[in-house]
Amino acid sequence: MLLDSTKTIKRVAISTGGGDAPGLNAVIRAATLSGIKRGWEMYGIRDGFHGLLTPEQYREGGIIRLNREKVRGITLLGGTILGTSNRNNPLRYPITLPDGSKEEVDRTDEIVRAFALHRLDALITVGGDGSLEIGNILAKKGLRVIAVPKTIDNDLDKTDFTFGFDSAVAFAVEGIDRLHSTAASHGRVIVVEVMGRYAGWIALEAGIAGSADIILIPEIPYDLRKVSEKILEREAAGRFFTIVVVAEGAAPVGGSLSVIQKEAGREKRLGGIGEKVAHEIETLTGKETRVVVLGHLLRGGTPSAFDRIIALRFGAAAVRALENGEQSVMIALEGQRMKSVPIAEAIGKMKSVPLDSDIIQTARDLSISFCEPD
Ligand code: F6P
Repeated sequence: MLLDSTKTIKRVAISTGGGDAPGLNAVIRAATLSGIKRGWEMYGIRDGFHGLLTPEQYREGGIIRLNREKVRGITLLGGTILGTSNRNNPLRYPITLPDGSKEEVDRTDEIVRAFALHRLDALITVGGDGSLEIGNILAKKGLRVIAVPKTIDNDLDKTDFTFGFDSAVAFAVEGIDRLHSTAASHGRVIVVEVMGRYAGWIALEAGIAGSADIILIPEIPYDLRKVSEKILEREAAGRFFTIVVVAEGAAPVGGSLSVIQKEAGREKRLGGIGEKVAHEIETLTGKETRVVVLGHLLRGGTPSAFDRIIALRFGAAAVRALENGEQSVMIALEGQRMKSVPIAEAIGKMKSVPLDSDIIQTARDLSISFCEPD
C-alpha cells in the first residue's frame, strides 16, 4: 500500500466526480487548507476528469489553482466549486466512429499523461463507486491516489457513512413531515419517492424518522396486495391517511426496476416507481392517492452539521494519508475514527441495508410495514 514515500509531494490535484452531494465543498476546503499548510500546491480538476480530457472547453483551463481565497466560505455551500459529472466515464468514454457507430474507449492513459504534463504528484478523488473504480485503475497505472467516499445513497462498502447522506435524509424527513399534515387533512394516501439507487438507506431512515406507515426498499421486494391491505387496515382503524415512502430502486416481488433512461457511458437513471405504486394503490383501494418525487432536491442545498464535520475530516485525513506515503487507499469512517482501506477492497461491493439490522427491526417494532409477501 505504501508507494515511494520518499518522493516529496509538491502538487496535488483534487477531483469531484459522480452525482453531487452536500459536503463536497467542505472536503475541497479541508484538503486544500491541509495541503497548503504542508507547503503543497493544490489544484482542482474541473468536472470530474473532463478538465484533463477536454481542457480546451474551459476558458480558465481544465485545472485551477486552489488557494485560501478560492476555498473561503464554501463549507456551507451545496454542490461543488469544481463541477462534477456522472457521464462520459473515462474508463468507458463513448465516442462516435466515422461510420456513425458508437464505441466506448478507455481514456485513463490520457489522464496519466495530463498528470505528468501538469507535474502533479498525487490525486485526491472524491466520489462514489464510479470514481473509486477510476481511481483504482489510475493507481494501477502509477498515480498516487487517495479516494474520499461520497454519495447521498450511503451505499459504499467499508465506510459507516458517506457525507451527503445525512443532509439528504434530513431534507426527506422535512418533506414527509409536511406531507403528513396534508395527507391527514384530506384522508389521502401520499407516496413519496426518494433517491438511493439500488440501496434503501434514504427511504428507510427518512421513513422511520418521518413516521411513514409503509417503506418500500430494494432489499425487500414488496407485494402490492400487502400495501393495499395495510392501507385498508388503517382505514378500518380510523386512520384515513397513509404515508408510503418508496426508494427509487424498489421493485415488486418478481417485478423489475423502474428505469427512466439508459444511455452509453453512464449509469441507468432510475425513477418512476412512485407513480406506478400510487396508480396501483388507487386501483386496488379506491383511495385518492398522490405522489411526490423528492428527486434532486435531496442532493441540493447546504450540508448538515454532521455532513460538514465528516466531510472536513475526510478531506484532512486524505492529505494526512498522502503525507504518510499511503497509496491507493480510500478514507473510511469507522465508528468515531477515520481510517484507510485499500480502494480495491472498497469497490465492487455495494452496502445494502442488512435485513437482520436493528434499524429494520426497529421499523417492524414500530409497525411500519415493508409489505413483503407472507
Ligand atoms: O448516486 C446519487 C444519485 O442521486 C442516486 O440516488 C440517483 O439514482 C442518481 O444519483 C441520479 O443521477 P442523475 O444526476 O444522473 O439524475
